[in-house]
Amino acid sequence: MKGIILAGGTGSRLHPATFPISKQLLPVYDKPMIYYPLSVLMLAEVREILLISTPRDLPLFERLLGDGSNLGLRISYARQDGPHGLAEAFTIGAEHIGDDDVALILGDNIFHGHGFANLLQENVAGLDGCVLFGYTVPDPDRYGVGETDETGRLISIEEKPEKPRSNRAITGLYFYDRDVVEIARSVKPSARGELEITAVNQVYLQRGKARLVDLGRGFAWLDTGTPDSLLQASHYLQTMEQRQGVRIACLEEIALRMGFIDHESCYRLGLTQGSSPYGQYVMNVAAEYRADLLATGA
Ligand code: G1P
Repeated sequence: MKGIILAGGTGSRLHPATFPISKQLLPVYDKPMIYYPLSVLMLAEVREILLISTPRDLPLFERLLGDGSNLGLRISYARQDGPHGLAEAFTIGAEHIGDDDVALILGDNIFHGHGFANLLQENVAGLDGCVLFGYTVPDPDRYGVGETDETGRLISIEEKPEKPRSNRAITGLYFYDRDVVEIARSVKPSARGELEITAVNQVYLQRGKARLVDLGRGFAWLDTGTPDSLLQASHYLQTMEQRQGVRIACLEEIALRMGFIDHESCYRLGLTQGSSPYGQYVMNVAAEYRADLLATGA
């Protein structure tokens, strides 16, 4: 499966912070926002990733992540020239997707919860059509909304409906088979001239190939769209990280634990940022990993 991270947009609800820089590069507690969606793709074992952003911001993402080889990934870049909708990711990324399945994640979506890696990997393995991830929210009219029948089967999807049929928001993480490119090319733009992701999802639904996986109540799906929600997300991550003594979405640690890099490479990546608590943490993780290997004689 290939991956796409869509990190475009103007972040206008965060002006003036986003006048000079993409929202998805702002820090959320101890790391840039883009680390969180990138970590989700890595946990799903997706290693070939296309990052789509605006011409203004692409060089900054490249400076941060390079070609991804440090993390055992292959990251490439493409531009979205205007607000033409989320589903444009599939026409921009058609060549990248090729004949593969693809996971799309929005660059401002933060997920955190126990067992997430397993849930992702199961759904990658069992993909037939598309998989959407639902999350119960108090304000569904701000999102794509999925309605299910009593058996849990998805029966309708609507984009930001005035009268939502359920309180199940469709989060910004989507798995698709390769038909998605042809479907994205065939959907009509919305009244605002955008290729909506919800229109693509509705085609899968009509074909009987859309499945909604519920992220349970033990799960966090965090909003980062406004100054308040961005600060709340930082507080949540700070609380969890300090209480548990582990870092969430630490890319170097994930690359190590997923077997994408070895402990020596991981340690070196920590060292290059060793003045920060984040870098120190990466070095510690690598050193402990090495000690465990020695102890078990592996
Ligand atoms: C987009 C999608 C919406 C989805 C949301 C998740 O909305 O159109 O269906 O629920 O992302 O973050 P946007 O945030 O672009 O308004």
